[in-house]
Amino acid sequence: MTDWRDFPKLELHLHLEGAAPPPLVRRLAAEKGLDMVGVFDEAGHYNSNDFTSFLRTYERVSTVFSTPDDYRALTEAVLTECANNGVIYAEIFLSPTSLGYDPAKWTDYLAAIEEGADQAEQAHGIVARLIPVAIRHHGPEQAVIGAKTIMSVPRGRMTGFGIAGDERVHQPKDFAPAFKAMAEAGFRLTAHAGEFGGVESVRAALDDLKVERIGHGVRAAEDADLLVRLAAEGQVLETCPGSNVSLGVYPDLASHSIGALLAAGVKCTVSTDDPPFFHTNMTSEYTELEATFAMGEVQFARFARTAVQAAFCEPEVKANLVAHLDKSGVPDA
Ligand code: ADE
Ligand code: ZN
Repeated sequence: MTDWRDFPKLELHLHLEGAAPPPLVRRLAAEKGLDMVGVFDEAGHYNSNDFTSFLRTYERVSTVFSTPDDYRALTEAVLTECANNGVIYAEIFLSPTSLGYDPAKWTDYLAAIEEGADQAEQAHGIVARLIPVAIRHHGPEQAVIGAKTIMSVPRGRMTGFGIAGDERVHQPKDFAPAFKAMAEAGFRLTAHAGEFGGVESVRAALDDLKVERIGHGVRAAEDADLLVRLAAEGQVLETCPGSNVSLGVYPDLASHSIGALLAAGVKCTVSTDDPPFFHTNMTSEYTELEATFAMGEVQFARFARTAVQAAFCEPEVKANLVAHLDKSGVPDA
């Protein structure tokens, strides 16, 4: 078994609050006198038995972060943990819904996140970009309000826009106005689909939201025509295998569709989604993929190079990432 910790990795699908280290959440909750009963299990991990309980715990964890300095500390901690697992570039989803969409609050909050990202970059060399996301179960009106707020504040590292949350409510087309406005403002688009929604949710994300990437998308493997389409269009999936197993999309990693997706020529990347919720990190994702699918350096190099191509960052940043991979001896697979 290889130690994959130092292998250079890119992570395109990571939720800021979903990556919050439990000790930080416990500390802030204690300082603020917040009730965390039910958030943690007996072992001190986040309670998350299924998608519904995951979303509930996630929203309660999010309420702990309320001041700009909370977000600075969270961003620095999350990116430091990424860097400790060999991640050289990360795209982080932001959904500070507990703040509401007041532009003044967002300006302060984003400035603090930028500061945390600066600190992590200076200390560890990790580069970050930010993707604010609408929350599907909060509905299309909130998505439009959110989009207006995001367009009105300093952009900083924000380069994309997306949607997360409960795929079992609303339809992608309901969010088309928000996505269209953000695309016109120069934000690049991704959407969670094909996780708890089936094949149709992936088609709808492509057709109705005009996304460039799909968050998860793994259920596309259930439809041969869709696989052909994804491969032909070069669509990139942000797969998160550990998340899918933890939330019960697949009973175990051996049943996961990633092998079938790759065999069909679909471009895949690997990320952790909400690592402490799913007891994972990027090193263990690679270790498990090696153990289960006999993946190795060539496949992991493909994940990294696919992620560079699909990253929502400037060409100069991509050139630096390619140089980093080349210098580290990552095959040009
Ligand atoms: N928000 C955070 N993680 C998510 C996931 N895996 N699916 C949908 N929404 C999410
Ligand atoms: Zn996600």
